[in-house]
Amino acid sequence: MSNKYYITTPIYYVNAAPHIGHSYTTIAADVLSRFKRRQLGPEHVRFLTGTDEHGQKIQKAADAAKLSAQAFVDQTSQKFRSLWQSLNVSYDDFIRTTEPRHIKVVQKSLEILFKKGDIYEGKYEGLYCTPCETFWLEAQAIGGLCPDCQRPVERIIETNYFFKLSKYQDWLLGFLKERPDFIKPASRYEETLRFLELNKLNDLCISRPKERLSWGIPLPFAPEHVTYVWFDALINYISAVGDFDSQDNYVSQWWPADLHLMAKDILRQHTVYWPIMLQALNIKLPKAVFAHGWWMINEDKMSKSRGNVVNPLEMIEKFGLDAYRYFLLREVPFGLDGNFSEEGIIKRYNSDLANDLGNLVYRTLTMVEKYFDGNIPGIDFSQLQNSQRVSDILAKIKHLESRVCQALDESNFSLALEAIWELIAMANKHVEETKPWNLAKENKQEELKEFIRLLVDVIRAVAGQLEIFIPQTALLIQEQFKADKIKKGNPLFPRIETKKK
Ligand code: ME8
Repeated sequence: MSNKYYITTPIYYVNAAPHIGHSYTTIAADVLSRFKRRQLGPEHVRFLTGTDEHGQKIQKAADAAKLSAQAFVDQTSQKFRSLWQSLNVSYDDFIRTTEPRHIKVVQKSLEILFKKGDIYEGKYEGLYCTPCETFWLEAQAIGGLCPDCQRPVERIIETNYFFKLSKYQDWLLGFLKERPDFIKPASRYEETLRFLELNKLNDLCISRPKERLSWGIPLPFAPEHVTYVWFDALINYISAVGDFDSQDNYVSQWWPADLHLMAKDILRQHTVYWPIMLQALNIKLPKAVFAHGWWMINEDKMSKSRGNVVNPLEMIEKFGLDAYRYFLLREVPFGLDGNFSEEGIIKRYNSDLANDLGNLVYRTLTMVEKYFDGNIPGIDFSQLQNSQRVSDILAKIKHLESRVCQALDESNFSLALEAIWELIAMANKHVEETKPWNLAKENKQEELKEFIRLLVDVIRAVAGQLEIFIPQTALLIQEQFKADKIKKGNPLFPRIETKKK
């Protein structure tokens, strides 16, 4: 397919329940998918998300929950799926790494690379903590003790399989130098380039002996080993949309991906391991990778071990789905870190959603009802001598869509929303400056009609763009203004009163 758009989120680990960080990436991908569906038609867009279900972390979490690994991953994967439903996320496909369609492509990839000599058998040596089942570096295991549990570590030498990352380092550097647009934002591109210029890549150990970890995909050429979780996980992006033919060529109508979205924590896997894996497999590279920032809680990274994770379901229960989506997309420029707090949401809610958007919609509905019995006046502004202020608003309406598109082409959600809110602010200012109640008193019917119709045009344009970001609210507004006669409902975003301390 030529005119297509294929976008992915990371596949999330199912060792714990989803939190706001996961929801951020997924909502961002949802917005870009809705945007592209409008541009290209729904059948030309593929939005993939899913869950990463193998590996030690997950085995351990299953053990702790006293469930079989399979039962445990079934349960948590479902939590992600149902959260996406609650968040109005329009994914087209949900891949799980325990699915046969995925396992098949992983094993084939391993086989191809082994045949080619890019995967080889070697010795792995490291300091191992048996109770924690973790390898440590010399520098980490101070005094020969495990940094986690303080028990002695053992030196282990075991046979493992390695992927020749080192062979492709020069190729990758050359590729990245030619394609500065491959990694976004630019700061992440620079970071990756510097890393590759200053470090020599080691080959990547891609296997784990089954006796240490059985919860993984067996290597086809060494079934007593399972594959390393990252090697397994990255392949989801191709296993979800294609397969190898009998000549070992990868065939897919969607690949290459147009955009892999993630946070900066997993940048290197996506900009070093993944391009090299694809190049070695003779598969095209994705068009771009975007690594956004982190949501922090009181300036601290959110994580399960710090006990500060926020559950998205609680947030939507408190503030409503669209207030939550709006906050995430508007509060922080995509790419930078941001601080998540309920006070922050309330502030955005009261100012942008209640005061600006909600007020514009409700006061307009009220005026249409009061002055025109609920009928939207028909006016053709191109036939009128418009004041400067009205012309400015009309121009803003006309250019709104292209400004939103431009911003979204750069994954700049906050800028796109800013453009929409500029128009909302202009319209609210127009109300205050026109003082329609005076027009009504003086019986200036024509002026009042023009005035109200302009507001309706603004609202329709705004709702048309909001569809991409906060679809539920956009639909409500569109319903209210769809026909010539309005359907007034309750105010969209009633103010949240905060108790003064
Ligand atoms: O890394 N702020 O899964 P994961 C913003 N399975 N985004 C955050 C975040 C935060 N505080 N915390 C998490 C894995 N995220 C692998 C991925 S892909 C082939 C395999 C989001 O469950 C963000 O997208 O740890 C981050 O990259 C991802 O969750 C990590 O999810």
